[in-house]
Amino acid sequence: MEQYKLFIDGEFVDAQDGKTFETIDPGTGLPLATVAQAGRADAEAAIAAARRAFDSGVWSGLDVAARIAKLQDFADQISQQGVRLVATECMDAGQIVGYAKIIVVWASLLLRNLATYAATKFPFEEEVLASGNAFAPGREFVRREPIGVCVGIVPWNFPTALAMWKIAPALIMGNTIVVKPASNTPLTALILAEAAKAAGIPKGVLNVIPGPGGELGKTLCTHPDVDKIAFTGSTEVGREIMRMASDTVKKVTLELGGKSANIILDDADMDLAVDGACFGTFLHQGQICESGTRILVPSKIYDEFIDKMQKRAEALRIGYQLDPTSHMGPVVSKEQLATIEYYVKLGKEEGAELITGGKRVEVKGMEGGYYYAPTIFANVNNKMRIAQEEIFGPVVCVIKYDSDEEAVAIANDSIYGLAGGVFSTNIARAERVARGVRTGTMWINNFHVFAEYCPFGGYKQSGVGRELGKWGLEEYTEVKRIHVPYFSDHNTNFVATLLSDNKKIEGFSYNCPTQVIAGHGSLSSIYKVIVDLGCRRALILTDPGVRKAGLADLVKNTLVDFCVGIYDNIPPDPDLESVDAATDKARELEADCIVSVGGGSVIDAAKTVCIALKNGGKANDYLNRWYALSEPQTPHIVVPTTAGTGSEVTNIAVITDKTAGRKLFIADPRIVPNAAILDPRFTMTLPKDMTVSTAMDAMTHAVEAMTSIMANQICDGQALHAIRQISENLPLVVADGQNEKARLSMQIAATTAGWSFTIAQVGLAHAMAHTVGTLHHVPHGAACGIVLPKVMRFNVDHAAGKLALVAEALGVDTKGMKERDAALAAADAVEALMKKVGHPMRLRDVGVPEEGLPVCAFHALADSSILFNARPTSDPGEILEIYKQAY
Ligand SMILES: NC(=O)c1ccc[n+]([C@@H]2O[C@H](COP(=O)([O-])OP(=O)(O)OC[C@H]3O[C@@H](n4cnc5c(N)ncnc54)[C@H](O)[C@@H]3O)[C@@H](O)[C@H]2O)c1
Repeated sequence: MEQYKLFIDGEFVDAQDGKTFETIDPGTGLPLATVAQAGRADAEAAIAAARRAFDSGVWSGLDVAARIAKLQDFADQISQQGVRLVATECMDAGQIVGYAKIIVVWASLLLRNLATYAATKFPFEEEVLASGNAFAPGREFVRREPIGVCVGIVPWNFPTALAMWKIAPALIMGNTIVVKPASNTPLTALILAEAAKAAGIPKGVLNVIPGPGGELGKTLCTHPDVDKIAFTGSTEVGREIMRMASDTVKKVTLELGGKSANIILDDADMDLAVDGACFGTFLHQGQICESGTRILVPSKIYDEFIDKMQKRAEALRIGYQLDPTSHMGPVVSKEQLATIEYYVKLGKEEGAELITGGKRVEVKGMEGGYYYAPTIFANVNNKMRIAQEEIFGPVVCVIKYDSDEEAVAIANDSIYGLAGGVFSTNIARAERVARGVRTGTMWINNFHVFAEYCPFGGYKQSGVGRELGKWGLEEYTEVKRIHVPYFSDHNTNFVATLLSDNKKIEGFSYNCPTQVIAGHGSLSSIYKVIVDLGCRRALILTDPGVRKAGLADLVKNTLVDFCVGIYDNIPPDPDLESVDAATDKARELEADCIVSVGGGSVIDAAKTVCIALKNGGKANDYLNRWYALSEPQTPHIVVPTTAGTGSEVTNIAVITDKTAGRKLFIADPRIVPNAAILDPRFTMTLPKDMTVSTAMDAMTHAVEAMTSIMANQICDGQALHAIRQISENLPLVVADGQNEKARLSMQIAATTAGWSFTIAQVGLAHAMAHTVGTLHHVPHGAACGIVLPKVMRFNVDHAAGKLALVAEALGVDTKGMKERDAALAAADAVEALMKKVGHPMRLRDVGVPEEGLPVCAFHALADSSILFNARPTSDPGEILEIYKQAY
């Protein structure tokens, strides 16, 4: 009789206590081979070898290509052992020879194909495109690294293939492994070990130790040097493994039991369905975890189906597994035979109708073998134990149902959720049913079809995790995120400053991708901008006021054939519905770019339309997302028509959410428009009050950017320039709206202020203005202007130096003044400018009711702009006080 040894640390060795056991051929009941029986000491030696091999880096440290090349050699060696593996698999596990050939060939193919996939496609390292955190931008990447020492516990039904399901992903991903085959079927895993040795897989990387589950299992599942357990077997043992692994918190993947439903729909091809039902249940004597052991058949075809299935089952030939004419071989062991007999007896007691089978079968010349007839129970109620418990033998329950919904409900009435089938000639209907069943695999008009690139695993108590495909490979990795900030100095790293008195952020990333074309007549450049962007179907977005002023049509006339239409229904402070309607229009016209002609309302709506066009869905899917987009958006060109928001260059879109009662944001570098055309002709028609209020919006951007906790020198330079330009030119355009030079300066100031706050954010004045804007319909710029000087005074002790610079830019002679006084003078100067140009001075002047102020104070606290304010506040009382001052 052949003798097999343990494979530990690259050598075939006897068990340390010298124990051996016999493995039986279930087709004859006679001993097949003697095998060394691993005990605790052998398990510890195997784990130690695997640990040494892993820690030395001899395998995990190889680059992927080198590792995969070695595994291809391993696959070659397995192929060399093919005939021996097939014969051994048949005799040890009772598989019929035709099936064993497929399974064994697949074992080497699986290794080869998964290894090739990993070498060419698996994302061992990937960049996270959305950097995800406005406070700490930088590079983010994710690595997949091996877990360490894995244990693979393999069942007796498919000893070669299921050993490979563990060995291949573990080794491909750089782990080492200790494999414990089932004591019923230990041989083929040891042949795989021979192949690994012949292929030069380094010692300790693969170890194989057959032995009894109990004692050996305990050592393997509790040993602190084991990092992961992959187990295939019964749910009962799976629970115990999970419990044992919990002490040292090992990673666990479990492929457990099943009671899969094979749903025959009333329009199924009857012969195919009967074949599928028999194949799904009787293949390998029903000893497959995902077998379709509950066949659900509609009442109206039930009797016909039972009749045909009975004939089909009775025609199956039962014989020795190496006889090529056998359809079914023996079950694996005496014990398994006894379990099957127990359940058949139980089924009869429970009142199920035994249609065929229900008895042992004698095969001539093989009298000691464990053969059992294919067995069908009809009129089974799904609550019966034979329909709920896994039998693991050729025993099937046929259950009646009346509607697709009932079939799905019966299928789901199980603690298991491993697999299932649907047979129908209507694939759409079959898919609908398949979607409803809560299992890890569903086959339509088929059964038992595995593929190395597709995942396999269970819902519910059928398991944890997945095997095969990229999902299976991932289970053998740890995921590591690596964050590399732009700022690695303690002065610039924002997080570090949280625990220090120095809140100043000196570091920043400045990104200004918008092309700006400014000057009288610059509109004519739009044609080239569109061509440069590779677009041909521009949709103009605008609002009724701007349309009425003739500005949108001016753009349309310039674009001629490159314009697919004008959509002029954007309201002030656009809400979700208006953005969605504009998106629908753009989709209908198949626009490939958006030209927004208007103020902040139109531009922000257009930014959001561009996101939805590029990424699908509706505006609401993208609100309140920060730094979450991973690609450039649908191209966007802006022709601003107000003197204020700077939205043409900012990375922010502000959209009103009426149900939330406030404005919500999308902030992302990837929504910055591609080009802005600052043609002063587009602001000449802007009424005086709008000129003034939008200018104060720009002023607020500049002042708040300078005093923001994220302020930096580039933002300061831009902000001071904007403040100076606004204070000099606003009175000029108010005096003469046709002063083109002053109009252009105002536009450039708005753009520059937009840049300044894009890199530094805004603050409390914005939070307060957004709130009164949403709740009381105050134009954004007007609300900003009214609260700005009050907020500047509120911030004075936290930003005195910056505010003193603001004062200078506003034309205040600060020479000889104390810094704090100069800062306060800045607030006075803002108020003086507002008075001079006729800006409303109080909230009561713009229709805000006094009793509405406390609610505004609460809502302002929830606005994200507040995060960046120079003086931290989380007290609604403080904010209410400022609102009152502005009232
Ligand atoms: N995304 C950003 O960076 C950003 C920054 C600040 C503000 N905003 C948002 O911008 C919006 C306010 O934008 P806005 O102040 O530019 O006003 P707006 O776009 O709401 O326009 C106000 C009114 O002015 C009219 N109008 C605009 N230009 C005109 C012209 N040249 N001639 C005649 N009428 C004209 C419009 O028809 C409209 O009725 C707010 O919703 C605010 O939240 C966005």
